[in-house]
Amino acid sequence: MREDLNNLQKKYTAELNEATSLKKLDELFLKLFGKSGEITTFPKSFPSLPKDEVKVIAPLFNKTKQELESALEKRREEVKLAGFKKILEEPLGLKDVSSKTLDKIPSKKREGHMHPITQFEEEIVHAFAKLGFQQFEAPHIDSDTYNFEKLNIPQEHPARDLWDTLYIDQTYLGPNPSKLLLRTHTSNSQVRIMEKFQPPIRLMNLGRCFRYENVDARHEHTFEQFELIYIDKGLSMANLLYLSEYFFQAIFGYDVKARLKPKYYPFVEPGAGVDGLCIFCKGKGCKICGGVGWLELAGAGMIHPTVLKNGGIDPDIYSGIAWGVGPGRMAMLRHEINDLRLFNSGDLRFLNKF
Ligand code: FA5
Repeated sequence: MREDLNNLQKKYTAELNEATSLKKLDELFLKLFGKSGEITTFPKSFPSLPKDEVKVIAPLFNKTKQELESALEKRREEVKLAGFKKILEEPLGLKDVSSKTLDKIPSKKREGHMHPITQFEEEIVHAFAKLGFQQFEAPHIDSDTYNFEKLNIPQEHPARDLWDTLYIDQTYLGPNPSKLLLRTHTSNSQVRIMEKFQPPIRLMNLGRCFRYENVDARHEHTFEQFELIYIDKGLSMANLLYLSEYFFQAIFGYDVKARLKPKYYPFVEPGAGVDGLCIFCKGKGCKICGGVGWLELAGAGMIHPTVLKNGGIDPDIYSGIAWGVGPGRMAMLRHEINDLRLFNSGDLRFLNKF
C-alpha cells in the first residue's frame, strides 16, 4: 500500500508539473479528488487491512493527499501567472504603431474658442481702452459698505429693493461681523477707485454680479456688468451722451443714436437711463422695442456729490460720470438671441455658432 501511495504521488506530481493549462489541471483534480478519483477511493480498502497497517498507512495517506492538494494549488497559480504574462507580452498587433502612424489615424479635431460674451467684452474693453480707460478689479464678495452704504444707500433705505441681494451667512464669525454679500453691481468699484486714485480718473470695471432673481429670458442670477468711472474737472451730461453714442457705434458698428431719460439711481444725480435707437427697426417701432423705437441699454449719471465725498474727492472741484451696462443683454441684441440663459447653458449647439 505504501508503494502504491508513493507511485500515485510520483505519477501525479509529474503530471501536474507538465500541465500548462487550467483545463489540464481541472482534469487532474477530477482524477485525484473527483467522486471516483484515485485519492477519494484510496481509503476504501482500509477496512480490509490489518489494524496495525491502517495505523501506519492512514497518516501517510493524509500526508500524500495534502501534498497533492498543495501541489495542485501551487501549479494552478503558476499556470495563471504564466497566462497573464503572456497577455502582457503579446504585441496585440500594435507592434508597428509608432507616433508617425498614429498621426495618420484620422481623429475628430475640436477646437475651443472664447465664450461669446467674453468675445463681446473684449471688444468693449478694447473700444474704451482707445479713449484712455484702464481696467480695475473689484471683489465679487464684498462688504455692504462698498456695495451700498458708500454709494449713498444706507441701511433700511428703500432703494435697496432695486437690488435683490444675496447675503453671506456669517453666523460662524461671531457677533456683529461687517456684513458680507455677493456684489449686486460693478458700482462696488466706484468708491474703491476714488480711495485709491486721484483725478483725473478713467477706469473701467468688468465682471460678474449676482442677484436673487426670478430667472427668466432677460434675468440671470449670475451675469456680467461693465462700468465706466470718469472723474475730472468740468464733466457734464454732454460727455455722458458722447460716451454712450461712442459705445453703441463701437459695438453695433454704425451710427446708433443715444438718448438720455431721467432714471433714479441713488449714487448718481442726475441719473439716466441710456436708450439706443432700436437697431432692429431704426426707430420705427417693432416687437423688440415694444413699438417705442428705442431700447434701454445702460444706466448712468453724474456721480452724486455724497459719493464723491465718501471717496475723498471734493465735489466742488471735480465731477464724475458713472456708466454701466449688462454685456449679456447687449450680446442678446447684437446676435438677435431671445433668451439670455442660452449663454450659460453649456449647450455646444448654441456656443459653437460663435
Ligand atoms: C445697476 O446695477 C447700476 N449699478 C448701473 C449704473 C452704473 C447706474 C453707474 C448708474 C451709474 P441696473 O440694476 O439697472 O443698474 O443694472 C444695469 C444693467 O445690468 C441692466 O441694464 C442689465 O443690462 C444688467 N442686468 C441687471 N440685472 C440683470 C440680470 N438679472 N440678468 C442679466 N443682466 C442684468
